[in-house]
Amino acid sequence: QIKGFVFDLDGVIADTSIYHGKAWHQLADELGVTWTEQLGNDLKGVSRMDSLELILKTGGKENDYTLEEKEKYAAEKNTNYLNLLKDMDQSAILPGMADFIRSLEEHDYKLSLASASKNSPLVLEQLGLAQYFKNRIDPSTLKHGKPDPEIFARGAEVLGLKPEECIGLEDASAGVKSINGAGELSVGIGDPEILHEADINFTDTSQVTLDNIKKAMDVMEM
Ligand code: G6P
Ligand code: MG
Repeated sequence: QIKGFVFDLDGVIADTSIYHGKAWHQLADELGVTWTEQLGNDLKGVSRMDSLELILKTGGKENDYTLEEKEKYAAEKNTNYLNLLKDMDQSAILPGMADFIRSLEEHDYKLSLASASKNSPLVLEQLGLAQYFKNRIDPSTLKHGKPDPEIFARGAEVLGLKPEECIGLEDASAGVKSINGAGELSVGIGDPEILHEADINFTDTSQVTLDNIKKAMDVMEM
């Protein structure tokens, strides 16, 4: 029986994955690494330093910089990202997600956040959704990033629930892998080809409702 929902943030609750993408694209240009849609998708859900490493590796530049230089570039990306966030408000909540979150609370489901982003407290505040997510995971305490199951396993743990009692929601392939590895039911939101490993797929957030999830689960059990 499902008792809790573990949410990714960027690209699931808010359209901030677009801002992350823009800021990384800008840095890739500066580093002389060709930006592709594939690279943009592969970066989704991946931590700040792992993202930089992936960009450098894609451009064959993984050995070109010292740790200090890499930290400088990662900080520069974050400054650009924070600039893009400056005017963000509730209008950045993806279609239907505010209603979905409220309906879960009304039905007494427990909610937690499994975002790799160190900026997630700020984003939730700006979206006006902080009160729904009292159970969070500090990403700096994680040993492994997505696709490792650690973050979604912790998402269930902080709710006092077993993984099989939780549904995880993700827009990233790495995130769906993390949910599956943790033993939760995975809901992928976005291109079904990219998220083919998800138990349930919705092409966009407006389809994410309790009713639609229940319907999809009924079909699975047949
Ligand atoms: C999320 C986003 C990624 C981002 C990561 C770290 O997983 O999907 O695009 O790189 O968080 O975010 P941060 O805000 O800590 O740099
Ligand atoms: Mg995401």
